[in-house]
Amino acid sequence: MKKKITKAIFPVAGLGTRFLPATKSIPKEIMTLVDRPLIQYAIDEARAAGIKEFIFVTSRGKSALEDYFDHSPELESTLRRKDKTDLLELLKSTNMDSGAIAYLRQNRPLGLGHAVWCARRLIANEPFAVILPDDVIAAETPCLQQMVEAHAETGGNMVAAMEVPADKASAYGILDVQKAAQNIGDLVSVKGMVEKPAAKEAPSNLAVIGRYILTPDIMSNLNKIKSGKGGEIQLTDAIAQEIENSNNVYGYRFKGQRYDCGSKSGFLQATVAFGLSRPDLCDEFGDFLNDLMSMRAAAQ
Ligand code: G1P
Repeated sequence: MKKKITKAIFPVAGLGTRFLPATKSIPKEIMTLVDRPLIQYAIDEARAAGIKEFIFVTSRGKSALEDYFDHSPELESTLRRKDKTDLLELLKSTNMDSGAIAYLRQNRPLGLGHAVWCARRLIANEPFAVILPDDVIAAETPCLQQMVEAHAETGGNMVAAMEVPADKASAYGILDVQKAAQNIGDLVSVKGMVEKPAAKEAPSNLAVIGRYILTPDIMSNLNKIKSGKGGEIQLTDAIAQEIENSNNVYGYRFKGQRYDCGSKSGFLQATVAFGLSRPDLCDEFGDFLNDLMSMRAAAQ
């Protein structure tokens, strides 16, 4: 029987320099889309997919993240006293059970592959998920859950995949895929992967998006690989290695809208889209956006 995926790694050690000065004092993952921090979207998606153990790979200056997941007894008792049951429930839904979370420090910024490798002892010999909280995916069935369901059929290693414009390939891990006949439905069979290739060297325009289901062999590969693109230990290279070793790497074209919340424009797009999708905000916010667009059109 295939082992259930119950552990997920959240690499959150990055400095978030694209969001300076905000990230001078708050971790990027605490920045909010409407009223929930980025990391909450990642946690909710992991929970929906059946994840029970949450492993955060952090760095200096990220203590606000640890506090965020802790219980807040004072706040809770104040809300209880004031009979604010809705807010109390909302708050409780963000609490994590004792022992469900582990924090590890990546003490040098050596790349995504290195961050994942830092969690090797907690992963031990089990398959695991990796979620990059910068990639926020709005979907009817959360993306990782879609992947867990597909993975129950395939086993092996699976990465979320999405077509990107050719001139954007150099910002992603790019898949080299088998011919269409060998691909079934949303799954593609991967025969190569390259991290951030130059546009003319990209083997396709199918990009890796930040959701992975990986076998523990990836940790062994990470033990051995040398630094790659940008002088960093790349997760992409460790997965590519597994194609050679076992030929069991799949790309999964998820259903949903992905927002690149690692960029300012993507973050703003997500803010607008999530704002409009909220029943309590959509009317007022939608009217405001319409007025704004009309004024913009009139001024042009
Ligand atoms: C990382 C991965 C890359 C992947 C991307 C998805 O890059 O290294 O393969 O395509 O996430 O968001 P980063 O955006 O952290 O540079």
